[in-house]
Amino acid sequence: MKNVIRDKNIVLGVCGGIAAYKSIELLRLLVKQEANVQVIMTRKACEFVGPLTFETLSGQPVCISLFGDDGDASIKHIDWAKEADAVVIAPATANILGKIANGIADDALCTFILAVTSPVIMCPSMNTHMYENRAVQRNIDILEADGKHIIVPGEGELACGISGAGRLPEPEFILEYLISILSTKDFTGKKVLVTAGPTRECIDPVRYISNYSSGKMGYAVARAAAKRGAEVTLVSGPTNRCVPQGVTCINIESALEMSTAVFDAMDNSDVIIKVAAVADYRPKKQADQKIKKSGDELVLHLQKNIDILKELGGRKKNQVLVGFAAETQDLKNNAQKKLTEKNLDIIVGNIVGTPTSGFGTDTNKVTLFFKDGTSESIPEMDKEEVANILLDRILMVK
Ligand SMILES: Cc1cc2nc3c(=O)[nH]c(=O)nc-3n(C[C@H](O)[C@H](O)[C@H](O)COP(=O)(O)O)c2cc1C
Repeated sequence: MKNVIRDKNIVLGVCGGIAAYKSIELLRLLVKQEANVQVIMTRKACEFVGPLTFETLSGQPVCISLFGDDGDASIKHIDWAKEADAVVIAPATANILGKIANGIADDALCTFILAVTSPVIMCPSMNTHMYENRAVQRNIDILEADGKHIIVPGEGELACGISGAGRLPEPEFILEYLISILSTKDFTGKKVLVTAGPTRECIDPVRYISNYSSGKMGYAVARAAAKRGAEVTLVSGPTNRCVPQGVTCINIESALEMSTAVFDAMDNSDVIIKVAAVADYRPKKQADQKIKKSGDELVLHLQKNIDILKELGGRKKNQVLVGFAAETQDLKNNAQKKLTEKNLDIIVGNIVGTPTSGFGTDTNKVTLFFKDGTSESIPEMDKEEVANILLDRILMVK
C-alpha cells in the first residue's frame, strides 16, 4: 500500500504549552514518513521550544509572524493554506482553541487556520481544570461542530503536578490519527470482523498449549480496515499488541471462547477475516490444581476443537469469508483444499517459519487463492501492506 503521508503537505502548528517538546518528535515521525512539513509556531510556543529545532528537522523556515519579521514577507498563511493536505495543531492551548472557535485572526497560526480548507486536527493539552473549564469545553464543542478533528487528551500525571485529563497523546498516536484521516475511505459502511493472535488451551492453572502467533498480521488487517473507514471488531487471543484506533476489541483466551465471540458477531458482519492461529486440539481434562512432577513421562489426552472457519463457511450468508493458512509445506495444495472445504472466498497462504515471513515477523510473503481457482503471489512486504492488498481484493469479491 501507498504510504498516505509521503509527499503530502502537512502543516504542524505548535502552541505555547508545556507539551510543545513532544511536537518535535511528531515532526520527526512525519519527516520519517517523507511528508513535506511546514511549521507554524505561536510566539508563546517559542518560549518553550526553539524554532531552530523545527527548522532543522523540517528543512524549511518556521513561520512565526504574519509580517515577515522571520525573514520572509510573503503571505505564507494563504500560500500554505492553499497547499496543505492536512494540519495538525499539537499541542493546542486553551488560548488557540478559543481563538479558532471564534474566528480570531491575530497571529500567524489562527489566521492561517481561517484560510485553510483541508482537514484540521487539534490536540488540546493543558492542566485538567483548564481542560474541564466550561469555556474550553464550549470552544471544543464549537470546533467539532465546525468540522475540526479534536483528539481527546489522555489522562495521567501532568507537568503541573496534578493527575487527570489534559495530556498530549503520544506523537505515534497523533500520526496514526492523521494517517487515518488521509486514508481512502473505501470500507465506509462495512462491518469487518477480524480474529488475531494465538489461543491458549489450558492444561492446569499454570500451563497451557499455544502457538507462536504474535497477532501482528491480524492487528495489521484490523488497523488497515479501520483506517479505510470500516467498523471493525477484533476478536483477539493473548498478544502484547495495542488495539488500533477506532477498533472494538474482544479479548479471548481459548478456541472455545473465540468461537463464541465470532459466532455472536458473524451475523452483524459484512466481511470476516480469520487471521487467528486457533488451536486444533485442547486438553481433554483441565486439572483444577497444578499437575505435580511424577514419572518420566506424562501423557496428555487432547480433544478436537471446533473448526471455526469451517463452521463459518457452513453458516455464511452474504458475508465475504477470508481465511489464513499457515503452512510449513505444500502451500498450494493445502490452501486450495481449505478454500474449497471451508467455503471461503479467499484464502491467504503463507509459509511460516522463515526469518522474514510468518509468525512474529513484521513482513510477510503470501499467496492469495481465490474461489474461482486463480491465485496471486504477493512479494514480501510489510504486514500492513499485505493487509491493504487483501482488503483491495476483498472489495473485488462478487
Ligand atoms: C510554564 C507554562 C506552561 C503552560 N502550559 C500550558 C499548557 O500546557 N496548555 C495551555 O493551554 N496553556 C499553557 N500555558 C499558558 C499559555 O502559554 C498561554 O495561555 C499562552 O497565552 C498561550 O499562547 P498561544 O496559544 O499563542 O501559544 C502555560 C504557561 C506557562 C507559563
